[in-house]
Amino acid sequence: MSLLCAAVVLVLSPWEPMLASAASSVGSRRYDAIFSLGDSFTDTGNNPAVFAYYSIADPVTRPPYGNTFFGRPTGRNCDGRLIIDFIAEGLGLPYVPPYLGPPFGSPSPSAASFRQGASLAVGGATALDVEFYRSRGILSASSKFPLNASLSVQLEWFGSHLKPSLCRTTQECDKLFGRSLFFVGEFGVNDYQFLFGKMRLADISSNVVPTVIDTIRQAIERLIKLGAKTLVVPGVIPSGCTPLILDIFPEPNPSGYSTKTGCMLQYNELGRHHNTLLQESLQQIRAKNPGVKIIYADFFSPIMEMVQSPRKFGFRDDILSVCCGGGSGKYNYNMSVPCGSPNATTCSHPSASLNWDGIHFTEAANRHIASRWLSSIT
Ligand SMILES: *[C@@H]1O[C@H](CO)[C@@H](O)[C@H](O)[C@H]1NC(C)=O
Ligand SMILES: *[C@@H]1O[C@H](CO)[C@@H](O)[C@H](O)[C@H]1NC(C)=O
Ligand SMILES: *[C@@H]1O[C@H](CO)[C@@H](O)[C@H](O)[C@H]1NC(C)=O
Repeated sequence: MSLLCAAVVLVLSPWEPMLASAASSVGSRRYDAIFSLGDSFTDTGNNPAVFAYYSIADPVTRPPYGNTFFGRPTGRNCDGRLIIDFIAEGLGLPYVPPYLGPPFGSPSPSAASFRQGASLAVGGATALDVEFYRSRGILSASSKFPLNASLSVQLEWFGSHLKPSLCRTTQECDKLFGRSLFFVGEFGVNDYQFLFGKMRLADISSNVVPTVIDTIRQAIERLIKLGAKTLVVPGVIPSGCTPLILDIFPEPNPSGYSTKTGCMLQYNELGRHHNTLLQESLQQIRAKNPGVKIIYADFFSPIMEMVQSPRKFGFRDDILSVCCGGGSGKYNYNMSVPCGSPNATTCSHPSASLNWDGIHFTEAANRHIASRWLSSIT
């Protein structure tokens, strides 16, 4: 905790007029709080409580997760800071505390207050409810995924439990949420990933993507009704460049891969389609809500740029290989030996890797992405 305080004091130090004016000129202190919904890319520590509830092994709770920055596992799916951590730093706010504590569904007793924000994001979370997958028989009844932590469940935690603990009257809530930054997502990566290998990509694209986008739209409109005035809505990543996907769903035909990057073309096409529909939907929400700022955060292009020009970002040339894992072969990835398990190994310079554990990015990559997003937030 002292680390967090030190960071905040550094940024906000009121007796440093130079610092303070520099900070305000780039728009720091514009927000008093950050609230986030999402999955592992925005989960600052909720997944251990959720995975424990479902009796799912959670390698994220073991080193080397957290080693680069926090010096211990924090529940983040990263060697260090997430994008949202860099954004909190950039805005002069404390790191966004995880909302959930055991028992699952109730607020963490360890956080004194969520007045400066909370993350309700859960690793593995989907935009669509569990029922969507169950009712279509897509996943077996014995499968613990998807978790009951979808976008609507997170919204319920926010609207029915967190909000009443923060403000009572509409006026009070409008004041607090009017000066808060709301992250909605990223959502979609898990929704599609659970369907890979079970449904044709073309069918996911035409049948599932529009449903995911509509679910995100409804959540944004609900948050606006609850008083949100500034929302950041990230698109999805290029899943065709994800080591896990590359390893588990190899394309039989070499033409399925980009000759320049080695990423799988169809999976990236699906992501582009999601991002196009999402931006169209955001445009419609903006038109209906003139007093609300809705920022689209491009998650796709910064990663493609890193994949295309690794050296420019200080990364190794084998950009699609994971830093931490127990694999061999092209991607150093083996799902049976996940990062955090006893037989996994870690690269000596995580900051020279884009991918940390097969799915999630390293702190070094997150820093680049956050600096791009910050320029549209501040
Ligand atoms: C998911 O959790 C909510 C409460 O947060 C509960 O009402 C609902 O029944 C649960 N759904 C499933 C499928 O477990
Ligand atoms: C992945 O790891 C398991 C467990 O160590 C091993 O049995 C398997 O052969 C590995 N797979 C590959 C492709 O190396
Ligand atoms: C780790 O690797 C050793 C040697 O290959 C093997 O005997 C052991 O079962 C592995 N441990 C785990 C947890 O997979």
